[in-house]
Amino acid sequence: MINVSKIKRGIVLDHIEAGTAQILYKALRLDEVQDTVVMMQNIDSSKMGKKDLIKIETDYDLDFTVLGLIAPYTTVNFVRDGERVKKFKMEMPEVVEGVLHCKNPRCISNSERSIKSHKFYLYNKDKKEYRCEYCDTVTTYEE
Ligand code: CTP
Repeated sequence: MINVSKIKRGIVLDHIEAGTAQILYKALRLDEVQDTVVMMQNIDSSKMGKKDLIKIETDYDLDFTVLGLIAPYTTVNFVRDGERVKKFKMEMPEVVEGVLHCKNPRCISNSERSIKSHKFYLYNKDKKEYRCEYCDTVTTYEE
């Protein structure tokens, strides 16, 4: 396997579902990061068969809502001075605000511009589905 060196400082997103790192890369706007970012796809994993992985070698303000929505099984590793100082597993967020859009054209959120907060509630974890707070239409991030 190709060897990618360890980072000195930053974030390693590990155990990303294979095929998802590219979607995550765009959604987290990692193309705008000025420091080193490495994306690896289809790495052999004992636990998952195949997995994706992203290393971000900088202090980066991670959007956990977007990460949890797209890659809920990711392990987030924070690295300082070359050592992993913190590690945790993501989960699907119960409530999502400001990321999803309702696909129902008649939903009030698509006509009423004064609506500032628009929440979606987790509906089906396995299908990554969320329910619109206004019209109950079920949607996913990909839609
Ligand atoms: N890593 C890195 N730079 C470091 C430390 C770790 O890039 N300075 C990366 C490793 O290459 C690995 C991930 O962070 O891809 C997790 O590292 P580590 O905690 O050492 O691995 P494990 O404990 O084996 O991870 P897990 O148990 O979560 O599979």
